[in-house]
Order: sequence, then C-alpha cells, then structure tokens
Amino acid sequence: MDFIHHFIPAHETPPRRVLLLLHGTGGNENDMIPLGRDLDPAAALLSLRGNVLENGMPRFFRRLAEGVFDEEDVVRRAHELADFIPAAAAKYEFDPAILSAVGYSNGANISAAVLLLYPGAIKSAILLRAMVPLTPATLPDLAGIRVLICSGTRDPIIPVENAERLTAMLRESGADVTLRFEEAGHQLVFDEIAAAKNWLRESSRE
Ligand code: MLT
Repeated sequence: MDFIHHFIPAHETPPRRVLLLLHGTGGNENDMIPLGRDLDPAAALLSLRGNVLENGMPRFFRRLAEGVFDEEDVVRRAHELADFIPAAAAKYEFDPAILSAVGYSNGANISAAVLLLYPGAIKSAILLRAMVPLTPATLPDLAGIRVLICSGTRDPIIPVENAERLTAMLRESGADVTLRFEEAGHQLVFDEIAAAKNWLRESSRE
C-alpha cells in the first residue's frame, strides 16, 4: 500500500461508513483518529500519513511557500490517493461508496484536489480549513457528491475569498456544497465539529 496508515474496523460488519482521515502539515496517521471517532463513533477509520516531507513535517503534496502549491505535485499526489482508495477498499473489504473524506488544512486540500481531478473517487467530504488546491483545465462532473467546507473568518492562512472560490468551483461542478464560516482562525472550534456531525448524520438519512 502506498501510504502509511491505520485502519480501525467498525463495530458493525460490513461498516456503514468509512472515514478517510487526512491530517494537516506536520501531522501523522494518529492525529485525526480522535476527531474521526467523535464525528461518527460507529464508522471504520482509515487514517493516512502524507508521503511528502517538508523539513521533517509530513504533508500530502509539496508547496513552494505557504499557500503556494507545486501544482505538478498536487496532480501526482492526488492520483496516488485516488488509486489508494479502491486498493484499501479491496484490502479492508468495504464499498468505496461509503467512504467520506475528512481532511484538515493540507489534508482538506488534497481531498479537494481528488474531488476536482478524480470525480467519483470520493463521494462525500468534510473539508476543514480548505483552499483551492489547483484550477483544473476543465471542471469535473460532481453531481451527487456532497461536500461540507468549514472555514474561519479570521484564518491567517486561508483568505475567506479563497474558501469561497473553492466552494464556487465545486458548486459549478455540480456538487452539493455547504459552506460554513466560524469566527475562528486556522484552529478548529467546537461548533463546527458539532455541525460536521449533524451533516454526516443527514447524509446517512439520504
Ligand atoms: C497547511 O499548512 O497545511 C496549509 O495551510 C495548507 C496547505 O499547505 O495545503
């Protein structure tokens, strides 16, 4: 398998939901597990470590400076992640359609890149502090894909305009996108986690 990862099976077999957990810069495969557990205690968790190192800090793609991405690497790493998902589904015996990505910061950005470049690889995603990872040559068809974007109005790394641009791009592609702003910086706050839980619960009812 192409990513160092943890897979924590669900209590039910087969699982009702698998959360694909993708950390922010400097994180690892352990970081997002408590959040995943909190979001859906019954879900199986598939938590990855990014393959790129920046001064010893794991990431999911290379950047040239803060907020300035190496687009060639974004494409390559999105491809690796899009390939990994069906391979993990086969190994751990789950239907890839029940997978929801949950990414924070750099992990949200690689999820957005997979959504834009490999439509269908991820059917639903919670993007926490995401920005536009790249502008694809043509917009994908994301009809039937649900996305929750949680942004901070005081985020020093991600301008409000950038989160809105990502939302517009995904909506224009046909995705059903909910954009939420918190009076917050780059760190997550309690209310948006509660909102993300509700959003996941709603998707189970659909
Ligand atoms: C980060 O530090 O992870 C940035 O905010 C986002 C990125 O570089 O992808």
